[in-house]
Amino acid sequence: MDWGMKNRLSRLIQRDGRALFLPIDHGYFQGPVHRLEQPGKTVEPLLPYADAIMLTRGILRSCIDPFIQKPVILRVSGGTSIIGEDLSNEEVTTSVKEAIRLNASAVSTSIYVGSRYEHQTLMNLSNLVNECEEYGIPVMAVTAVGRELEKREARYLALCCRIAAELGARVVKTYYCEKGFEKVVNGCPVPVVIAGGPKVESELEVFNFVYEAIQKGAIGVNLGRNIWQSDYPVAMIKAIRAIIHEDATPKEAHQIFSDVKSGR
Ligand code: R5P
Repeated sequence: MDWGMKNRLSRLIQRDGRALFLPIDHGYFQGPVHRLEQPGKTVEPLLPYADAIMLTRGILRSCIDPFIQKPVILRVSGGTSIIGEDLSNEEVTTSVKEAIRLNASAVSTSIYVGSRYEHQTLMNLSNLVNECEEYGIPVMAVTAVGRELEKREARYLALCCRIAAELGARVVKTYYCEKGFEKVVNGCPVPVVIAGGPKVESELEVFNFVYEAIQKGAIGVNLGRNIWQSDYPVAMIKAIRAIIHEDATPKEAHQIFSDVKSGR
């Protein structure tokens, strides 16, 4: 692996081999989602605890202070909306030249395996990898399920992750599933991070699935709504960070959450 690629990956994945990515790219197809109406304000208090932020070029340019030292994962696919016909009909929206201009440490694109536009999104990934490898830029593949959240089961996720790795993704983002998550990770020869999906009821539930995912081989998270849609986002990210980088248990993480929440 060339120095540039290694260096960019080392900015994303820390020395302990773990990573906490904070995604705020949701608006690219969902518009101003709850608590992300003003993305700059939302992420400002959270950034010190994130290893990288993931977002689109528009939000990066207009809402994020260029003085930040956090690496950027640039979302470069899109072209669909939540009210449109088919979320899988994505194309590459942002050039690699633009990613370099914006000093991105990585780019990300969604793949929709089993969807109507499976081939198109897999070719988006493949073509991006071809170009990004030329410049030493890692591509993170996002295994997307669109509205079909029930697709989040091991056999399907393992298929998506393996395909993403085969096509050259350097990191794969997927979902945690209770049954058989080890198979998802074991079948994928590149690092796997998990998303959180829609906000869940209790904080402990989040700490449990992040902890379990790490125990079963994920290197970390690319987790958004369950952090910044919380009433206590800083407490959430600090607790999740402890699970990822300090091997905290869900119980310990919950204690951290409660302490930060109550200002202790
Ligand atoms: C989807 O909108 C994006 O690709 C997100 O980056 C990804 O789903 C992770 O965010 P969350 O934890 O909110 O699902």
